[in-house]
This record gives sequence, structure tokens and C-alpha cells, in this order.
Amino acid sequence: MPFLAALSLLTATPASAAPLKTLASSHQLLIGSAVRTDPLEQDAEYRAFITKHFSVITPENAFKFEALQPERGKFDFAEADRLVEFARKHGIKVRGHTLLWHHPGAFPAWIKEREKEWTPAEAKELLEAHVRAVITHFRKQGKGTVFCFDVANELIGDQGEYRKDTLWARIAPDPVTLLDQVFRWARAADPSLKLFYNDYGIEMPGKKADAALRLLEGLKKKKTPIDGLGLQMHFSRRFRPDYAKVETQLRKYAGLGLTLHVTEFDYAIPDGDDSAETLKEQADAYAGAIRACLKVKACKAFVTWGFTDRVSYFKQDPSGEGRAFLLDEKGVPKPAFHAVESALRQGRR
Ligand code: G3I
Repeated sequence: MPFLAALSLLTATPASAAPLKTLASSHQLLIGSAVRTDPLEQDAEYRAFITKHFSVITPENAFKFEALQPERGKFDFAEADRLVEFARKHGIKVRGHTLLWHHPGAFPAWIKEREKEWTPAEAKELLEAHVRAVITHFRKQGKGTVFCFDVANELIGDQGEYRKDTLWARIAPDPVTLLDQVFRWARAADPSLKLFYNDYGIEMPGKKADAALRLLEGLKKKKTPIDGLGLQMHFSRRFRPDYAKVETQLRKYAGLGLTLHVTEFDYAIPDGDDSAETLKEQADAYAGAIRACLKVKACKAFVTWGFTDRVSYFKQDPSGEGRAFLLDEKGVPKPAFHAVESALRQGRR
């Protein structure tokens, strides 16, 4: 191991720091992050932090449509299986992410190039084949390591509307009909897998949260096999949450009998702003979010969408903010790490 990496390991999280997963497990909480396969396989410091602190990981991109079915009917699980094997070996659970999503970055070329032409019947056939094949694969390969899946992601638009202009929306006129069908395919492929709906911007009262509640109530009424709700929680100074309202909203979803996972938490800060005040603002955001989860018994996982600023999706399309995670570019814990550790020590109050 290069000297600097070894040195930063020593400074990263002092030996006295109890593993976050140990503190979390005493409150029946899983804690983890989205991970990328390349750093997982090439960066010992990245891997060491995960194995020390996390009880759950989410493949940031390795389980998406474009990664798993790069050609029609030809599945490539090699990268995904390496990630699952790493998790299994270290007793870490895996959140599958995601099957039904409209984002162009998740579509393979063979879908994108005909996106406007696929008929409703073809779209249904494509999606059913993908859902059944992927869930079946991880049922056999994952041996329980892949314990839940974001079956569907971000069906609701920012004004609370059903995203009608997507390939998958051609399958059904409304989100309840669409999701009922897709969740039944997933349940049939693996009765033991916990099936989640995942979205952003539903953490606080508002049009989108109301639409999410209506969608979930519709699914419960239809007896759709849904087990949980993933709340992404992508926050920043632009989307600054009131955590008392977040807690209230979490309780509304929990009232539907759903397990709740915080699935993609991050708090982005302005590029170039290294002030103590801003790092404390970020730490307070992390503390507020994990405390809101700890206060609601149904909230069983707290997952961030990365854990080190060195490996970050914010670098993909610079937007003036980023550095959203627990560790800085050198792998040194930021105030946010200590805020999470302290909140976990305080537990479910
Ligand atoms: O793997 C290809 C590579 O071969 C190619 O050279 C490169 C340049 O085109 O693209 C690479 O794929 C990119 C992939 O990230 C891996 O880096 C895709 O183009 C890019 O669209 C993809 O972005 C991801 C995005 O979802 C879309 O899938 C981000 O990393 C990822 O952080 C982001 O995560 C989403 C969640 O899934 C859902 N919630 C929001 C969250 C943040 O946007």
C-alpha cells in the first residue's frame, strides 16, 4: 500500500472511532453508501473505509439497465457479481438499484436509439424481460446479499405529476397500474426480496410528497407487493430541509406500513467554500437527517450517495457545488463524519 494511502488511513478515522455500522446496528439501523466498482477494486483506502464502517452498499451504477443489459437479450453481470461477492465476503448487504427509471444515463444504446419508436407492447416486453432476468439472477447469485431492490425510481415529476413522456409510461396510463405490474413481476421472480419505490424531493411536505403519498396509498389499496420506500434526500443550500418536517413526512409514509430507507443522502456545499461555518452547516444537515431517521422506527437504513469527495458524481457535470460527503478529497473525516458518529451514539430518542 502506498505510503500516503497508509498515512491517510491512520489519519482518516482514528482507531478509537467505533465503526459506524457497530453504532448503527445497536439501533437496528443499516448504514452505508453508494459505491463504484473501479475504486472498490483499485483503491485500498476506499475499500478499507467501506469494510470498517458500512453494513450496506448500493451499486451507484453497476446494477442499472445500461450496465446489465448492454445488448438486447445479452446480460452482463460480471461487474455486478464482483461487487456482490465483495459485499458477501464482508457481511455487507446490497441494495439493488434500479430497474424502472426514465433517466437517459441508465438506458443502453439499443434502447436509446429507438426510444421514441418502441410501442407500448414492446416497452412492456422489454421491461418485463429485464425485471425478471435481473431479479432471478441476484436471487441465485446474491444468496440473500442483495436483500432489497429499488424496483422503480423517480416516477413523479417535480410538480407532483406522473412522468408521462417516458418510455415506460407508454406501458400504463397511470403510475399505480404501471408499478403494480412491475412489482408483481419482481415479486414473482424472488418472493424473498424486499421491493422499494425510490424518489427524491418527497422528504418534506409539498406537491411531490403529496403525489408520492397518493401513489403509495393507491398501491396499498391494489395490494401491490411493495415493501418499502426509498427517500433519496439530495440536499444542499438550495434544498435546505427542515428536519422536523422531514420527521413528520417520514411518519406519514411509515403509517402506510412501509419500511423506510434513506437511500442517497448528500449535502452539497459551494465549490471553493472551505469555511468552518459551511462545513458545520453540512455536518448539521447530516446530523438532522440521520436523527430524523433514528426517530422513526420504520426507518431502517441510512445510505449516502458516496462517502468521499474524491469519488463523487458531482464531478461528472460541475454545477458550482459538490464535496457532499463524509470524507474530504484526502480521505480525512469532515465534521459531517463526526456529526453522524455522534448522532449514532445518541441513538433512537
Ligand atoms: O460507463 C460509461 C463510460 O464507459 C463512458 O466512457 C462514460 C462517458 O460517456 O459514461 C459512463 O457512464 C456514466 C455513468 O454515470 C458511470 O460513470 C453515464 O454516462 C452517466 O450518465 C452515469 O451517471 C450516473 C447517473 O445516476 C445516471 O445513471 C451517476 O454516476 C449517478 O451518481 C447517478 O445517480 C442517480 C441515482 O441513480 C438516482 N438518483 C439520483 C442520482 C444522482 O443523479
